[in-house]
Amino acid sequence: MHIRILGSAAGGGFPQWNCNCHNCAGVRNGTLRARRRTQSSIALSDQGSEWILCNASPDIRQQLESFPVLQPARQLRDTALAGVILLDSQIDHCTGLLSLREGCPHQVWCTEMVHQDLCSGFPLFNMLSHWNGGLQWQPIHLDGREFSLPACPDIALRAIALRSSAPPYSPHRGNPHPGDNIGLFIEDRRSGASLFYAPGLGQVDEALLGWMERADCLLVDGTLWRDDEMRVCGVGDKLGSEMGHLAQSGPGGMLEVLERFPRARKVLIHINNTNPILDEDSDERAEMTRRGIEVAHDGMDIHL
Ligand code: MLT
Ligand code: MN
Ligand code: ZN
Repeated sequence: MHIRILGSAAGGGFPQWNCNCHNCAGVRNGTLRARRRTQSSIALSDQGSEWILCNASPDIRQQLESFPVLQPARQLRDTALAGVILLDSQIDHCTGLLSLREGCPHQVWCTEMVHQDLCSGFPLFNMLSHWNGGLQWQPIHLDGREFSLPACPDIALRAIALRSSAPPYSPHRGNPHPGDNIGLFIEDRRSGASLFYAPGLGQVDEALLGWMERADCLLVDGTLWRDDEMRVCGVGDKLGSEMGHLAQSGPGGMLEVLERFPRARKVLIHINNTNPILDEDSDERAEMTRRGIEVAHDGMDIHL
């Protein structure tokens, strides 16, 4: 199975268009050793010809341009994207569907909760129904059953419900439901190798730790170094824990969680522009390296 990191940043990307924080200003004026990053999205393939898009970021156009195998090659209008899976209904994970309208209909796998949000607070399904069949909903169930996309039969997927909150425009914001946000346990049926993918992960519990234990590679939430990072950087007042993102540092933080999985390859994704791990010369980045944790970048490939 081939996993391509199309985008590795959290909402806003890096640098964020209106941000002058230490990282954003530094990468813009060249004083910081760091890579620019687009908003988080990955593509998966078993054979390398047909691909599954996991989350459709607002940067999708640039992401497709940067990965030639996804581009049209067989007929006048064409794409190697065979289906889209949405892990939540957040702007940074769904808005790219608007930019894919020329290729409708698209098959879109998501939970009942995400589908509801995208038919109400952020009505992408309704809007895109005006483009050649629009988005065709394929429900993701939360009963642990395996599913596959017809284009990639050797990839088995399972949705794991994660504790988080729905986006601000969701009709049930403040009233969390299972399926607002999922992680995916993704297995190559031929090799048995597996990936656990969760760009938004707020809390871990025993069931989730069990799935993480089974995975050969963990590609998980790297949004914030510290829970109060937005406050400390003076760019916002929300805590990571309020936004459904478990920070890396501190007791019970992502570093401690990842320590439990010495066997797995560990990669952080969905990194916010304020996070010091983006600075390749920072102490925090050195700490990641020391712990054997990688920081995803756009264009990174994982083969399992
Ligand atoms: C989040 O995951 O909390 C988002 O990146 C927020 C956003 O897109 O504004
Ligand atoms: Mn996000
Ligand atoms: Zn910034």
